Amino acid sequence: MWAERTSHFSLSGIREMFALTKPGAINLGLGQPDFDTPAHIKEAAKEALDRGYTGYTPNKGFPELIDAIVSYYEQYGVQTGQEQIICTSGGSEALHLAFEALINPGDEVILPDPGFVAYLPLTLVAGGVPVSARVSADDNFRLQPDAVADRVTDKTKALVINSPANPTGAVQRRNEMQGFVELADDHDFYIISDEVYDKILYKGKHVSPASIDPDRVIVANSVSKTYAMTGWRLGYTIAPAAITEEMLKVHQYIQACAPSISQKAAYAALTGSQDSVRAMVEKFRARRNVVMHHLKGIAECATPEGAFYVFPRFTTSYTSLELTKKLAEAGVIVVPGSAFGQFGEGHVRISYAASHENIDRAFQIIKELVA
Ligand SMILES: Cc1ncc(COP(=O)(O)O)c(C=O)c1O
Repeated sequence: MWAERTSHFSLSGIREMFALTKPGAINLGLGQPDFDTPAHIKEAAKEALDRGYTGYTPNKGFPELIDAIVSYYEQYGVQTGQEQIICTSGGSEALHLAFEALINPGDEVILPDPGFVAYLPLTLVAGGVPVSARVSADDNFRLQPDAVADRVTDKTKALVINSPANPTGAVQRRNEMQGFVELADDHDFYIISDEVYDKILYKGKHVSPASIDPDRVIVANSVSKTYAMTGWRLGYTIAPAAITEEMLKVHQYIQACAPSISQKAAYAALTGSQDSVRAMVEKFRARRNVVMHHLKGIAECATPEGAFYVFPRFTTSYTSLELTKKLAEAGVIVVPGSAFGQFGEGHVRISYAASHENIDRAFQIIKELVA
């Protein structure tokens, strides 16, 4: 009765775990900072309301916000401009636009596996064929250009890269990005670069593949994670002008414009003090260290270099779904690795967007269960 396109995928495994949440359970399943949006950003939103910014904005977004995004990406060596950016309803819409504008039915899209839950459904909605490229714990979950090269065919249209990565916290090196760009140039495909965790980084500096070849890359980013603004729904794409024009058609008809008040808030976020971002990242770093300490001796786990997740493998006879269900019954919510792709099986994703105290309490329960 319904359109076939939605029958090929289901709601994310992350939601399934939340459905099991009992009162009092400790939630280490969250994909958002457990911090409030910084005060100066909220003030900017209040002021925008008072000044009557309650109507549609230009389809692409307020020009001053686009200028702020241009300046923000200068720090990564990406030269961009007004005609290359669209403000979207979160990074989620930014990704959707990229898939809709690039993928024809039958085109292959190479996805990191394990990888963020949206890539596979977005590929299918666009009529594409998902092709998984394994990321291995042996490489600290960094996608390797060789693993991508093995999956390239003459139907490859796009490769998705996500650094820092959800669910593993892996951060790609510049030489790896260089390798992906060379493959894209040689085999004439595009890179969709999901950079929503660009600032949640514990080591080194974020590398955008758009700094290597802007003609091959569509960046999807948002203010969601960096500024603790997940509910504001404000993201953006950066892409070559010709692709931006095509994406704008989709954006115009499905969204019209990103939320006006959120655009004003995002402008304050990008142009204002970055102290709160630095403070948040330091807190995440300390919690990551606590989590790694707890995991010692009970699981194999690569040390994450970014985002706020760890992706351990516990030595148990349970599948990752069985283990997460057992943990949920015992009062700790985590996400089964299998929700992120076939190669996530055996792992669980633990988010440390939770208080130090809750992390300690959760690990008491986890240790009892896996012992
Ligand atoms: C890797 C990744 N990309 C994109 C998103 C979408 O974020 P948003 O739509 O809030 O910008 C998320 C959210 O969890 C994510 O983890």
